Amino acid sequence: MNQGKWICSPNKQRGPSVTFLKKFDLKGDIKSAVLRVSAMGTYRIELNGKKPSRQVLAPGWTSYDSRVQVETVDVTNYLQENNTLSVTVGSGWAVGRIGLKGSVSMYADHVSTIAELTLTMKDGSTQVIATNKDWEVWTDSVTFSDIYDGETIDHTVVPTYVAQAEEDPTVKTKLVDQIGAPIMEQEILAPLSLNTTPKGEKVLDFGQNMAGTVSLRIRGKKGERVVLSCGEVLDKDGNFYNANYRSAKSLITFILSGEEDYFKPEFSFQGFRYIRIDEYPAQEIDKNAFRAIVIHSEMTRTGRFACGDAKINQLYHNVVWGHKGNYLDIPTDCPQRDERLGWTGDTQAFCRTAAINYDVRRFFKKWLGDLRLEQTPEGAVHGVCPEKFANGYSTRVSAGWGDVATIVPWTLYQAYGDESFLRENLEMMKKWVAYIRSVGDEEYLWLGGYHYGDWLAMDAGEDSYVGATSNDLVASAFYAYSLQLTIRAGEALGEDMTEYKEWHENVKKAFRAYFMENGMPKEDFPYTEIIPSNRSAVVDSVRKGMTQTAIVLILHFNLCTDEERPALVDKLCELIDAWGGKMTTGFLGTPYILHVLTENGRNDVAYKLFFAEENPSWLYSVNHGATTMWEHWNGIKEDGSFWSTDMNSYNHYAYGAVADWMYGKICGVEIVEPGYKKIRLEPHPVERLGFAKCAIDTVSGRVESHWYYTVDRICFEFTVPERSEAEIILPDGFRETVTAGNYCYSIAR
Ligand code: BGC
Repeated sequence: MNQGKWICSPNKQRGPSVTFLKKFDLKGDIKSAVLRVSAMGTYRIELNGKKPSRQVLAPGWTSYDSRVQVETVDVTNYLQENNTLSVTVGSGWAVGRIGLKGSVSMYADHVSTIAELTLTMKDGSTQVIATNKDWEVWTDSVTFSDIYDGETIDHTVVPTYVAQAEEDPTVKTKLVDQIGAPIMEQEILAPLSLNTTPKGEKVLDFGQNMAGTVSLRIRGKKGERVVLSCGEVLDKDGNFYNANYRSAKSLITFILSGEEDYFKPEFSFQGFRYIRIDEYPAQEIDKNAFRAIVIHSEMTRTGRFACGDAKINQLYHNVVWGHKGNYLDIPTDCPQRDERLGWTGDTQAFCRTAAINYDVRRFFKKWLGDLRLEQTPEGAVHGVCPEKFANGYSTRVSAGWGDVATIVPWTLYQAYGDESFLRENLEMMKKWVAYIRSVGDEEYLWLGGYHYGDWLAMDAGEDSYVGATSNDLVASAFYAYSLQLTIRAGEALGEDMTEYKEWHENVKKAFRAYFMENGMPKEDFPYTEIIPSNRSAVVDSVRKGMTQTAIVLILHFNLCTDEERPALVDKLCELIDAWGGKMTTGFLGTPYILHVLTENGRNDVAYKLFFAEENPSWLYSVNHGATTMWEHWNGIKEDGSFWSTDMNSYNHYAYGAVADWMYGKICGVEIVEPGYKKIRLEPHPVERLGFAKCAIDTVSGRVESHWYYTVDRICFEFTVPERSEAEIILPDGFRETVTAGNYCYSIAR
């Protein structure tokens, strides 16, 4: 931006949207017109009453103190002789209420914008219309907007001139060309039904938990109101419920003009399946006048999975919708309550699945940039990115969360073979492991610290936040894993990683000495960790070495010898049996447990867990009507009551990480060389499913795997991508290496 200046309203508005407007005439024949625009807040552009951009909630959420994105739009076809260009800005992430502890955003206390329209005429001359004091400030019909609290659109407001804009010297951030995938409206859902609940409330059911907004076409009297509340689930009596949104009001208000109105919030988004109609100007409600608009970052769908079991297909559907609802510019924990934050632990757990289902390269290019910007000079990576909260509050530097710095770049490199993910992030990876080395007294262990641990695992009591596995063990295991990924990344880039390898060996040795005995995790060892003094402190203080998660991490992160594996796997199965054939793993153990079982010869137990229907299990939520992944295995309990309102989201993708096992083990498509240049096709057929198939559009071409049962055979069909080669391994032990093409086999059942 050469000439545009940051401008704001002299009223320094936080709440109602502000329209910045400029009128200009076109002199001569236009060749091209390019608009560049950004804002502190989120904006809508209009040129002569039309919207030249499909982006919503632009410029998205970045580490605003460091950088904000600039959108470039070709507006040539929107120009006429006399023109009105406007940029309307709502509070968004930069100015609205966002973060933990109910804070208002700490980035800016008023909205502002910057824009530059470059007109190139047919005679070669150029003219630039740039934001400055000549722009006017007008009122807008969006009289309130906030990401958490919702939006009020008042069509009785006639946009009026307020004042001339002021230059805004308070915005000091850097402007960068848009990096991230644009946020756009992606799907439109019609309500399935309009119901009257036992309490007598009118509730629309869109049939799908989602993130986005709700639109309405209506005619009524001037000043009449429609007020809508958002909810994800109904309570056990069938009544509307949204206490789990905590302080997020998610309230949508439309005020009618008296003419035919069309309302669609554009400055906020909500997570919902149900809409309660709190106010409506007529007795009869026309449900077909409502639509749910699904909003998320633009990503190309690349992976599909289907099988012969309706419940498993529903689970897969829930994973995909968990993804859609939480890849809205940044990878969030959930889209509904007063968080919607880029929680790093959730992000690392789900990114493998994400990079199969969708092309997430552009999405992560931007977010990883913010992660690098927010890494502290000492190398610490916090629990949330972007992060800026009230009173200097910041999230913990926790194992399994901070490791996002190594896991995401490595996972993306694996999925896409794109070295830039390593080049850009290797320094961050190195700084993260150096940070771990520097904290505490032990160079090769991570003892102490304040971690989220095996978050929400069930083995420390149902209402505990942190599972029973020792945080020291979890932290030291992830330390070793992050080092391993840093070594692989460095080597992929041709660096000499000898020192890191020695370091890794030392960490492994220290881990085994401190936490293991005779090839098994020790039951007990000294505890150094800080136990939070919150309401769940009693159960949160249970800490053990011998847990399912501990064994899963030891096996998955190669902290054992090959000789020790069989006994560890037996022990894991024993612990599963001891829990009635169930998992006790939380956010950190769950993404790996099925992989560990299948890879170590106990696919039978993996399937037992996968098909389990009692709490905790993946199918529990499916049986209870879920359309997205739940935060808690038992967010709705058997008796229909809810987990505490404190922490109970019905659109939390972390446990959706199971889909990478569905692709990788049920269908058997595993990456051997980055970008699927070499793959392994080793399906694990199981009668209950009847058939399973997946297709993934990889950078090397489309890979397909399909198996099905006939009366006496199991048949396999594979497509090996054009630029790939595959090792095919069948359950009867048959193996062969093949190049691109289609392959069929069958074996006796
Ligand atoms: C979030 C989680 C997150 C966690 C930290 C929660 O409030 O919703 O998904 O990872 O805090 O443990």
